[in-house]
Amino acid sequence: MRTDTFRGRDFITLLDWSKEEVGQILDLALDLKRDRAIGRLHDDLLRAKTLFMIFYNQSLRTRNSFEAGMHQLGGHAHFLDPSKIYTPALEGQEVAYSTERVSDVARVLARMGEAIAIRCYGDPVHWEYGAANALLHEFARWSDIPILNMEDDIYHPFQALADLLTVKEKFGTFRGTKFVMSWAYSPSAHKPRAVPQSAIIAATMMGCDTVLARPPEMALDPQIIAACRGYAEMNGSSFEITEDFEAAAEGAHVLYPKAWAAVPIYKPPVGEDSLDKAQEIFDRYKHWKATREYMELADRNAIYMHCLPADRAWEVSNEVIDHTDPESGWRSVVYDEAENRLHVQKAVMALVMR
Ligand code: CP
Repeated sequence: MRTDTFRGRDFITLLDWSKEEVGQILDLALDLKRDRAIGRLHDDLLRAKTLFMIFYNQSLRTRNSFEAGMHQLGGHAHFLDPSKIYTPALEGQEVAYSTERVSDVARVLARMGEAIAIRCYGDPVHWEYGAANALLHEFARWSDIPILNMEDDIYHPFQALADLLTVKEKFGTFRGTKFVMSWAYSPSAHKPRAVPQSAIIAATMMGCDTVLARPPEMALDPQIIAACRGYAEMNGSSFEITEDFEAAAEGAHVLYPKAWAAVPIYKPPVGEDSLDKAQEIFDRYKHWKATREYMELADRNAIYMHCLPADRAWEVSNEVIDHTDPESGWRSVVYDEAENRLHVQKAVMALVMR
């Protein structure tokens, strides 16, 4: 394993990383997870190093897994609320003595720490698809320490790594694994597309037989769909898109149903600037819900996955999400998946922040 190719790199999307590199990250994450289980600590790996975390949005898993991960590796994770600093802003979007240009924030923090992690999507960028990703790239342009994407409006790469690690643990292989990323109903139309987009990138990259199931209005980014087709071709695996919720689940090993925003809402290219319209579209698909009957369409050892937080009773029944007994055939693995955020992030931080 060559590790010198990792140091100093940004982690904004899996598309910037090779299949081999992603495999190496997963291997290291598993090593760190096993070592921790037997009390073998690695609290010298990032000793005295600092991760700055800028959260424009709320979080449970991401914030706490990064903080715990940095602590476990001997370093410190510093939480920054953009409303309590001078809010980092792009040129042309500045407000005197309220914002600070991203180029200045990035260069100042880069003098003090070893990586900057950012979460930004939705309201802070007025739901303009791609604007948050552009913000991260502007940080990356000016920072000479790694920029880590804690979820923007296109990608959530650490969630995708945790998803992959969970599949690897449960099935031991990606090849021949039917991975279904499906839309599911939620009464909230405010859902970014970063999770499903990163999940299909990850699944196709590693060679899963991947299915994207979604209503016609919930199409994902065409550039990402094209990348997934390319990965499937490279791996000799399959990538299909369907509008049939139940048919997609048949024989699946992984079922990952969750809501994301409809295409014709908010700003271009997302659409018409109408939340009512978005809600009306969402409400057409209330039957897209993970129930026992849905799980029973899948392989008998299928796993139910969700990045969390889940909208219980809408996206998924309690019976499914709480069905975690590993001896029971199909089951929910959402807490393993959440825990794996910690291990994959430790692996990436150890590799890029050295
Ligand atoms: N899955 C995930 O990113 O969770 P949080 O929003 O709680 O960070």
